[in-house]
Amino acid sequence: MSRSVQSPRVINIEDLRRAAKRRLPRVVFDYIDGGAEGELTLRANCRAFEAVTFRPRCAVATPACDLRTTVLGIPLSMPLILAPVGSSRLMYPRGEEAAARAAGAAGIAYALSTLSGCRLEDVAAASKGVVWYQLYLVGGRDCALSAIERARAAGFSALVVTIDTPVAGLRERDMRNGVKELLSRKLVGMLPFVNQLLTKPRWLMSFLVDGGLMKFPNVAIPGQGPMLYADVTTALEQSMVSWDDLGWIREAWSGPIVIKGVHTGDDACRAVDAGADALVVSNHGGRQLDGVAPTLRMLPEVLASVGDRIEVLLDGGIRRGSDIVKALCFGARAVLAGRAYAYGQPPHPDTQSGGNDKCHHAHPHAYAMRPDHHLGMIYQSQNVPERKKCENYTRDA
Ligand SMILES: Cc1cc2nc3c(=O)[nH]c(=O)nc-3n(C[C@H](O)[C@H](O)[C@H](O)COP(=O)(O)O)c2cc1C
Repeated sequence: MSRSVQSPRVINIEDLRRAAKRRLPRVVFDYIDGGAEGELTLRANCRAFEAVTFRPRCAVATPACDLRTTVLGIPLSMPLILAPVGSSRLMYPRGEEAAARAAGAAGIAYALSTLSGCRLEDVAAASKGVVWYQLYLVGGRDCALSAIERARAAGFSALVVTIDTPVAGLRERDMRNGVKELLSRKLVGMLPFVNQLLTKPRWLMSFLVDGGLMKFPNVAIPGQGPMLYADVTTALEQSMVSWDDLGWIREAWSGPIVIKGVHTGDDACRAVDAGADALVVSNHGGRQLDGVAPTLRMLPEVLASVGDRIEVLLDGGIRRGSDIVKALCFGARAVLAGRAYAYGQPPHPDTQSGGNDKCHHAHPHAYAMRPDHHLGMIYQSQNVPERKKCENYTRDA
């Protein structure tokens, strides 16, 4: 594990974010950290959590907290799932495998993005826990069908269909940093932007040793092979998911389906009608349509529309254990976190453990996200909060 992450200075996700900023080239850090356009929704996601305050009950005996829960019938050690983060291999070598391994060791689920740099079979093999496969329709229906079949054979237990990516988000930081030019592999276009890579030689060396990825091994286009990085924007724009697609996806995948990217009560009902088993209230971490409401604010509308007909998860802005507690207080069954782990570096495999104490050393970022401290303080009870305990929070105007 890198010394910067072991340092006592890295005790929360913001510390980890700063460490990532030091470690990664600007173009990679901004790819993780940034959002669409003015990044209003990105900031609003976090602020929505900050605006919620707790109403603790005091002087009540506090037994140990039991964070265990189930999502889609699968037991998890706590109500946290690692969200699909495309191209995690840019952030650290074999990034998707490392994240899946760490999640499995911590007893939580990991969702692998279609746009990953590692083969889905290798990611499933790396985890001893629950893995989900996130589906984009890039490369067309045949390509998606072959990925679905591979995911089934490899042991992925749920399919996550992301519906909020009809076009690639307008990420201004990516434009400024020359993402398109760097991916073009045309020397003249790349030249003004390569310096940001050269100033991080350790990252550059490990990236090159890891293969200097330029292809997506899980997007196998018939007759062409794995899709190139340079083609991803166009491919996303040509591969919009519509509700009609849920029909053939349902036929191809017999396991649970999670719809990710629901913003409104209406769409939540459509997800139920489409036969989904769970949905994620998500605005893609503010990376797609800037100006949409923060997810925590949309959660009550979604819950009011669907009731108990579907499991409701949430992501966007989760940076602390207390954020997880707040989302649960509002009625989410569990949360997903993207950037909170993407900023981090994986622990060395030898140091991994599911045990809490070792977990502190092995997964400082996972530790920072554990909600037990807050649960103990706020709930004074044994269990993860349920919806009925909502009287314990106050939302500031
Ligand atoms: C660098 C990065 C890449 C992402 N790639 C994907 C992806 O490939 N598929 C997807 O469904 N969501 C993707 N997301 C969105 C996350 O799954 C999740 O919705 C979002 O990160 C939640 O917000 P948070 O980062 O504030 O936790 C990505 C997010 C980040 C930060």
